[in-house]
Amino acid sequence: MTRFGKRTVLGAALALALPAIGHAQGTYPTRPITMIIPFAAGGPTDTVGRLIAQAMGTELGQPVVVENVGGAGGTLGAQRVANARPDGYTILLHHIGMATIPTLYRRLAYDPINGFETVGLVTEVPMTLVARRNFPATTLAELVQVARRERERLNYANAGIGAASHLCGLLFQKALDTPFTTVPYRGTGPAMNDLLAGTVDLMCDQTTNTTEQIRAGTVRAFAVTTPQRVASLPDLPTAAEAGLPGFEVSVWHGLYTPRATPRPVVERLNRALVAALRDEGIARRFADLGTAPVPVERATPEIHRTFWQADIQKWRPLIQAAGQYAD
Ligand code: MLT
Repeated sequence: MTRFGKRTVLGAALALALPAIGHAQGTYPTRPITMIIPFAAGGPTDTVGRLIAQAMGTELGQPVVVENVGGAGGTLGAQRVANARPDGYTILLHHIGMATIPTLYRRLAYDPINGFETVGLVTEVPMTLVARRNFPATTLAELVQVARRERERLNYANAGIGAASHLCGLLFQKALDTPFTTVPYRGTGPAMNDLLAGTVDLMCDQTTNTTEQIRAGTVRAFAVTTPQRVASLPDLPTAAEAGLPGFEVSVWHGLYTPRATPRPVVERLNRALVAALRDEGIARRFADLGTAPVPVERATPEIHRTFWQADIQKWRPLIQAAGQYAD
């Protein structure tokens, strides 16, 4: 067959396929969508993800089913989505880890930056420094003294290298110039169970997972990691007020699809995300947990990608200076 012949056959095949793809995009979604949450059920990412998934499903007319794929600081879940078919039926809800993982992990089985399309930003969640209820300190100043005295005898829980709890722990250890012993979990949901049981000492976790425990007094809280206090925890001082200025981190969350997902599918998902961000029930639940949906004018794929790329550059020097890598 001549080259021309091959081209004719290929052209005909593509001409036949395009309407089907176009048709599929036009009617997308025609079946349930899987939202991968890269941490264990019951944690803060799961809490945000399930609220958004339910609201998006209502708007899309198809269920958005959450699947928790924890492990390796959120990289196993991200890898699952990066390697999925780019058809809009496998999406990822992840957080600030998408900005730290490209530096922390030097050998991944997926491209942590170019493996995804951005759909839009979702929310930015404050973090809280908490300890087991009977920890021998009641203020951040006392905690700093105990930490400097106990050093590696203190067990600090996180969700693995790349998790928000890992990043917060890195910042806290840098601020104190004191190492802890790290106890990794598949998410801070399971980690919270051990903190409540008193088998680990400390954790830095998002208000979406600590607010109810702090209010119930089942954990001891020292500070919130944002410049201003959180309305849902009015008595909790900021780290700066408590004597640790500059110890600031908040956990932004975004929605992703695999790279090369057709633009009409990304736009359809973005419309569903915006509808979720406008949902009054979500706004109320987020507020009760110390956070808020991002303003919808910021929830575009382009703003998400620009913000994400800038955050990768922001955290890279701090991680390189700490010299703590996952591999
Ligand atoms: C979780 O959902 O378990 C947390 O986001 C883990 C973390 O990032 O610390």
